[in-house]
Amino acid sequence: TNPELIKKLESTIENIPDFPKPGIQFKDITPIFLNPKLYEEVIEDLANFSRGKIDAVCGIESRGYLFGIAIAVALEVPFILIRKKGKLPPPFVGQKYDLEYGSAEIEMRTGQLQPGERVLIHDDLLATGGTTEAAAKLVEKQGGKVTQFSFLIGLKDLCGTDRLKQFDAEIHQILE
Ligand code: PRP
Ligand code: MG
Repeated sequence: TNPELIKKLESTIENIPDFPKPGIQFKDITPIFLNPKLYEEVIEDLANFSRGKIDAVCGIESRGYLFGIAIAVALEVPFILIRKKGKLPPPFVGQKYDLEYGSAEIEMRTGQLQPGERVLIHDDLLATGGTTEAAAKLVEKQGGKVTQFSFLIGLKDLCGTDRLKQFDAEIHQILE
């Protein structure tokens, strides 16, 4: 990644202490969308990582849509939505995953991903990796091959990349 882009993002993304809970540093990416030129640079960076290497992009609701669709359009490949439970009409497949307290489930329509396709899973943030791991399992359940993961931000302390090693895919995080 271009070091200029990293600098610009570091000064644009806001760090909000103690949100949504005490002790958590919330990364607010919304100021990026006030700056269309910066947004374009982010998409260029993410598209360059995946160019020629994937057949489809899967984006994770909701912040994974903000950049995921633009990556897919830039690379002229299909974009497939992975949604939180209860939003998609059938037929779909689901995958449960653990949260800090309790569990959650994500879903994906069947028939949108073709068996054997190389998939990029994109999300804005990699924290514990639980969400992304579940997304990758959904892709594999449908015969897709997860070959890449990309994120704007990876929180190194939470070691999310450890949970992605099982997929033998490339990982790109613009900011660590
Ligand atoms: C956040 C973030 C990632 C996920 C990362 O989404 O956008 O999707 O958490 O956490 P993990 O690596 O520990 O699983 P959130 O579930 O808050 O929902 P949103 O994208 O709809 O805001
Ligand atoms: Mg999210």
